[in-house]
Amino acid sequence: MTTNEKILNDLRLSKKRYLHTMGVVACTKELAKRHFPLLSTEKLETAALLHDFTKELSVEEQKALCQKYNIAITAEDEKIPKLFHGKTAAAIAIHEYSADEETASAIYYHTTGRANMTDMETVLFFADYIEDYRTDKACIDVRKYYEKCLKQEDKHLIALKKGVLYSFDTTIKHILDKKELISYTTIEARNSLLEDL
Ligand SMILES: [Fe+2]
Ligand SMILES: [Fe+2]
Repeated sequence: MTTNEKILNDLRLSKKRYLHTMGVVACTKELAKRHFPLLSTEKLETAALLHDFTKELSVEEQKALCQKYNIAITAEDEKIPKLFHGKTAAAIAIHEYSADEETASAIYYHTTGRANMTDMETVLFFADYIEDYRTDKACIDVRKYYEKCLKQEDKHLIALKKGVLYSFDTTIKHILDKKELISYTTIEARNSLLEDL
């Protein structure tokens, strides 16, 4: 059995999140083929399969995993519990499935993004946003905007960066509307991409 087959076997997710995960697997491959053909499809699949591996666990279970894998819990994690699952899934990727740094880092940052993302981080972050099973308006908007940019831009990499920037802006607006806290890492990610473009 390959590592990815084992992960697939070990996934314990609701039907909705399982389908989302499969959508991310397919979308990372599509994005990588278009923008970063040198990325390892095997590693991308590992990252995609594991990215929401712990998403459905309770905060208590997340904290227990933090203790098990020696993950420092920040004040921001406590205030934005959604941030736990990227960190705990990245630790599981390393310790249980021997994932390398590149793969683990893509999982770690898939929720917040970060400034100067690596190619694999960018692909997983964006695939998580626009994969086909995502049907909320914000995701459809971002997908359509990215597809429009692909048609307009000669350089497809610019279209990808514009799409990712648009996804950050959409997320930040959504969080503002809900009057919730925004992770500083997301703000840094958005600012760095804006300057980059
Ligand atoms: Fe996630
Ligand atoms: Fe996800």
